[in-house]
Amino acid sequence: MADSLLALRTSLAEQLAELRGVQPDQLPPALLDISVRRVGDAYYVCPADWEQLRHEEGGAGRPIPYWARPWPSGVALAGHLKDHPPAENLKVLELGCGLALPSVVAARAGAQVLATDGHSDAVAFAAHVLSINEVEGDVALVDWSDHAGHLVDRGPWDLVLAADVLYTSQNVEAALRLFPHLVAPTGTLLLADPNRKGAQGFLAAARAKFELVSDRGPDVTLHLLTPRNG
Ligand SMILES: C[S@@+](CC[C@H](N)C(=O)[O-])C[C@H]1O[C@@H](n2cnc3c(N)ncnc32)[C@H](O)[C@@H]1O
Repeated sequence: MADSLLALRTSLAEQLAELRGVQPDQLPPALLDISVRRVGDAYYVCPADWEQLRHEEGGAGRPIPYWARPWPSGVALAGHLKDHPPAENLKVLELGCGLALPSVVAARAGAQVLATDGHSDAVAFAAHVLSINEVEGDVALVDWSDHAGHLVDRGPWDLVLAADVLYTSQNVEAALRLFPHLVAPTGTLLLADPNRKGAQGFLAAARAKFELVSDRGPDVTLHLLTPRNG
């Protein structure tokens, strides 16, 4: 393994183990069999064999590692931000960031980024993804369906990003409760979604509080929501 990949692996192993509260040699092997890949002009580091990681996590009774691959919605949201970069110093929050490609693009434009996920492995990988792209950004472990208070306290946010996170009814309900408290009155919520039913339910209810413009694609739709005044 090349020296830089070995250093990345060592650094990841330490953080992953610390966040999981285990020794590095207790981590699933597929978690540390990593590769560095590229989408557009952003690099990301991820477990090389997602199916194998899913298999190992499932065997240990742990949840499916949805965070561990870039999904079409995350890639589409990153592409949108590249074409429409946020202004410098804009306060940007990404929810359910997984490998955090949208956060990389926003940070590269000069935004102040906080990338969050409810899975500790995702947070460790997201920090390294920001780092290998040589951009500044914070990461935090936050499950917004039950511990979102400090996201509200750190807000309001000029831009809230979320790609493919509305796939459980629990998340849809939590999103309806939380998102209106995160977005600044002049801010924007940008949702990328692979045309799931859950997103339709969210959007139908969210219209009470947000103006909605959707750019529908065959695989991913981008929804831009801005708070209604008053
Ligand atoms: C399908 S993946 C999408 C990952 C990334 N946004 C992308 O599009 O590539 C869903 C992500 O949302 C995270 N997630 C799901 N529910 C969450 C919640 N309630 N709080 C925080 N993160 C959550 C998962 O851990 C996972 O990283």
